Amino acid sequence: MEEIDKEKLPRHIAIIMDGNGRWAKKKNLNRISGHMKGVDAVREVVTACRELGIKVLTLYAFSIENWQRPKEEVDALMGLLKEYLLRECEEMLKNNIRLFAIGRLEDLPTDVRETLEATIQKTEKCDGMILNLALSYGGRSEILHAVCGIISDLKKGILKEEEIDPLLFSNYLWTRGLPDPDLLIRTSGEYRVSNFLLYQIAYTELYLTETLWPDFNREELLKAIADYQSRERRFGLTSEQINGLEV
Ligand code: FPP
Repeated sequence: MEEIDKEKLPRHIAIIMDGNGRWAKKKNLNRISGHMKGVDAVREVVTACRELGIKVLTLYAFSIENWQRPKEEVDALMGLLKEYLLRECEEMLKNNIRLFAIGRLEDLPTDVRETLEATIQKTEKCDGMILNLALSYGGRSEILHAVCGIISDLKKGILKEEEIDPLLFSNYLWTRGLPDPDLLIRTSGEYRVSNFLLYQIAYTELYLTETLWPDFNREELLKAIADYQSRERRFGLTSEQINGLEV
């Protein structure tokens, strides 16, 4: 069991859950079975993060590009998402977990969107942890959406050009109000960020593992956190500055 320091936990963990298809293929199963097993991993990781005291967990559940997958797979993923929300709502309330979602939520099938909105609303008073699902999400679209919001507010006179800075910009992103991720985990041995939280991961620590998402579990999560805790985050400063030896 990995030893982790409860005082140095990442506040926000973001995960690119990859490898469901390969997990299924290795077992001679169809891709959808991989996604089903992926949902079990989601449950385990959400529970573990809540127990550890992580404040925000963002899961990349469906990208804008994922709409181009075979219809059967898209339908299955939407079905699994709806089923997850319906089954887990009680658990979220019990564990004081608030649901958030980022992405082009208007793209979701009406029934899924309604279930999502209802769960977001039911859990809005929970403040133990935020579970943030990225759905029909793309980092470039999010940035463009923010740019359009800024242009619109400039035109309305709500905003002045000189007020625009990196912090203000982040308040126009779908993640407004959430801290930037401290740790980004990607499973399945791929070394890409795949259009995920492009603006927000400027200083995020990356953890890449060969483990396929359906095999990712509490122990793997603890390994990722222990690795994160062994790093020195410098945010562009020197080691001495970070350690308070120099001003
Ligand atoms: C990537 O694996 C995974 C996805 C595109 C979907 C992730 C979805 C889930 C884990 C289940 C639903 C989520 C929730 C929150 C209930 P892949 O299919 O790209 O795998 P491959 O690269 O091996 O083909």
